[in-house]
Amino acid sequence: MLSKKIETAINKQIELEAASSQLYLSMASWAETKSFNGVAAFLFKHSDEERFHMIKLLKFVNERGGHALIPALKQPDKDFKTLNVVFEQILKHEIYVSNEINKLVDICLQEKDYTTHNFLQWYVSEQIEEEALARNVQDKLKLIGADKGGIYFFDRDLGAMAAATSQNEQSGGKGGKE
Ligand code: FEO
Repeated sequence: MLSKKIETAINKQIELEAASSQLYLSMASWAETKSFNGVAAFLFKHSDEERFHMIKLLKFVNERGGHALIPALKQPDKDFKTLNVVFEQILKHEIYVSNEINKLVDICLQEKDYTTHNFLQWYVSEQIEEEALARNVQDKLKLIGADKGGIYFFDRDLGAMAAATSQNEQSGGKGGKE
């Protein structure tokens, strides 16, 4: 059974994961309107992953006798100006999410809820991957600078990355990321 304090804290995290999914969906839509189809595919995939993070928390709360709440969300940003702005925002956002997960882990320790603490370790590892990926993509963009040819290949690479992840998932692998 979850304590009320932990239930409330996880519900807050459910909201953050849902908001993350919406933010990446909005970025994907923006990218698609700018004909960055590879970037859009990557971001649509990323949005799905965030939804998966949200559902995983939701199921956990309900399985442990709590009530997972579905949040109302604000409309996310819709104009991003450049790809650099998009990926800078993603990295900043993922660092924020990592901090929130760490706070959640801390609450579990204070409450001596070792089951939830154990469950959250998946999120701790996931955030290491998410931050690393965001940094890696941002570094690539910095290297490319204003080179239009470079941007073309960047877009193509991100599209290939999204397709490879989907293929891996369909064949039963972890797909690099969940
Ligand atoms: Fe679910 Fe990207 O944090």
